[in-house]
Amino acid sequence: MTPLHEVIINKKTTINPIWIMRQAGRYLPEFREIRKKNPNFIELCLNEKLSSEITLQPIKRFNLDAAIIFSDILMLPYGLNQKVEFKKNFGPILEPLQLDRVLKTNEENFVNKINPIYKAINHVSKNRLVEDKNTIGFVGAPWTLLVYMINLHSPKKGLKEDFFKDNYLIKNILQIIDKFLKIHLKNQIQNGANVIQIFDSWAGLLEEKDYQNYIYDPSISLVNYVKSFNVPVICFPREIKNYQKFCEIVKPDAVNIDYNVDPLTISKTIKIPVQGGLDPKILLTDKEILEKETIKYLDIFKDHPYIFNLGHGILPETKPEMLEHLVKVVKNY
Ligand code: CP3
Repeated sequence: MTPLHEVIINKKTTINPIWIMRQAGRYLPEFREIRKKNPNFIELCLNEKLSSEITLQPIKRFNLDAAIIFSDILMLPYGLNQKVEFKKNFGPILEPLQLDRVLKTNEENFVNKINPIYKAINHVSKNRLVEDKNTIGFVGAPWTLLVYMINLHSPKKGLKEDFFKDNYLIKNILQIIDKFLKIHLKNQIQNGANVIQIFDSWAGLLEEKDYQNYIYDPSISLVNYVKSFNVPVICFPREIKNYQKFCEIVKPDAVNIDYNVDPLTISKTIKIPVQGGLDPKILLTDKEILEKETIKYLDIFKDHPYIFNLGHGILPETKPEMLEHLVKVVKNY
C-alpha cells in the first residue's frame, strides 16, 4: 500500500510520510531553468512533457512520498474560457468574468482545453520514480475559485464590500464551478491520481455565518464525489476559524492545517488523519531551529495518523538543502 493510503485509510501511526505543498516550484534551480525559457505559466502547465518533468524534479532530489502534479487551481477558470495570466511578483490576473462565455462551455470543450494535465498525471503516475508513492491530484475549492473569478486577483487586502452584490451571478457561478470541478476530478482520478487535495486557500476571508453556503455545502458536494471513486480526499480550509467543526460537517478523509492553529489542540480534538502545519518560514531559518520545530509536530502527532507537510506552500526563497534536511529529520524520527 502507498504511504499516504497507509496513513489515511489504515490510520497507521508508525510512519510519517512527507510531501510539501508547492514542492515543484521556484525554490528549485532546475525549475527556474525551465521557467526562464517558458514565460507563459499557463502554457507551461499545458505542456505535458515539461509539466511531467517539473512534477518529478522534487521526487528525484528528495525522499518524498508523493508527487503532486504541476498545475494550478486556476486552470479551472481557464478551462471555462476566462483568461488567466500570471504576472511576475504580482500573481494571477483574470479577465473580467463573462457569464455567457462560461455558460457556453461544455464538458468536451473543457476537457479538450486542459487535456495535457490529464496526460501528465498519466505519465507521472506510471513513472518508476512514483511506483510505490502517491500521485496527488488537486482542485481549488469552490469558494476560493469564486474569489478569483470575481475578484480577478489574490484578495490580499480582503474582499471588496460589493463582492456579494450580484447574487444571481454568484449562484450561477457556484453551480458551474461544482459541475466542472467534478469533471476535472474525474479525469484526474481516471488518469492515475490516487489522492485528491482540495485547496480552500481563502476560507479565512469569510465570517462564520457564511461558512454553510460557501465552504461547507460546496465542499461536501466535492468530498462525497471523490469518495464515490474510493479515492481519499484531503481538505485544506486555510485559516478557517474552527477546523474541528469543518471536519465534523464536511467529513474529509484527512485535513491539512495551517500554521496559525495550535497543533496540540488539533491533535486532541480532531479524530481524522491530519496533514501539515509547519510554518514555511521555518525553512528560512537554520537547521537547528528547523529540527526543533519539526520534532515538535512529530511529537504532538506521534499517536495520531499524520502526514508531514507545511502550513502553506514552500517559499521561493527556501534553500533546497533545508528541505533535504527536513525530509531527513522526518524520516529518522
Ligand atoms: O504544490 C505543487 O507543487 C503543485 C503545483 C501547484 C501550483 N499551484 C503551482 C504554481 C499547486 C497545488 C497550486 C495551487 C494554488 N494555486 C493555490 C492553492 C494553494 C495556495 O497557495 O494557497 C492557489 C491559491 C493558486 C493560485 C496561484 N498560482 C497564485 C496565487 C500564484 C502566484 C503566487 C505564487 O505563489 O507565485 C500562482 C502561481 C504558481 N502556481 C506558481 C507555481 C509553481 C509560481 C509560478 C511562477 O513560476 O511564477
